Amino acid sequence: LSSFPSYINLLPSVQTCNITNLPENYFLKYYLYHALTWPQLSFVAVVRPKGGYGNGRGYDHSYPKVVGYVLAKMEEEPSDGMAHGHITSLSVMRTHRRLGIAERLMRMSQRAMAESHRAHYVSLHVRVSNNAALRLYRDTLGFEVEKIESKYYADGEDAYAMHLDLKSMW
Ligand code: ACO
Repeated sequence: LSSFPSYINLLPSVQTCNITNLPENYFLKYYLYHALTWPQLSFVAVVRPKGGYGNGRGYDHSYPKVVGYVLAKMEEEPSDGMAHGHITSLSVMRTHRRLGIAERLMRMSQRAMAESHRAHYVSLHVRVSNNAALRLYRDTLGFEVEKIESKYYADGEDAYAMHLDLKSMW
């Protein structure tokens, strides 16, 4: 038996964070599917009220607030036959950017893919115009561009298909 991941009650807030930051959105059941199938691979960044919950003014249900998440999975039918992870979605609220949150979320997910699932590599797609994410993936984390996927997104924009080797983390 294994317990539900601790973030499962936060999935509606993860969905809100996604809708706020990205045009690619998903049904709640897709977040739940990730959390139940690969509970080790997704992470959230939350903020708690200053001074904790016990401030004498009752429980504040608006906390904890999700300010970032990485939603990740293992590729279920890898075309190259190699077990590998995939980043479905990553975002951080504007108010909390450039604090190293996305980098930490990505590194935690990458480690879990290697250690829990012996992932050979991790893949993702990113819009060719998304300079912030490209900088994060390529320059900070060391991803490489594998190919350009033409008109990958619903609005016709191309995607870079990127990947990062994880075997060094086994
Ligand atoms: N401009 C240039 N470089 C950037 C930027 C930026 N705006 N943001 C991050 N980086 C690079 C920098 O090298 C940065 O290191 P530094 O701050 O020491 O210079 C490094 O990435 C790490 O930055 P973080 O602070 O970890 O990144 P942050 O927490 O701000 O989140 C993110 C970055 C996720 C791209 C954020 O800007 C965001 O949510 N954007 C909107 C949603 C989005 O584009 N998500 C990715 C879509 S692709 C996908 O989901 C697979």
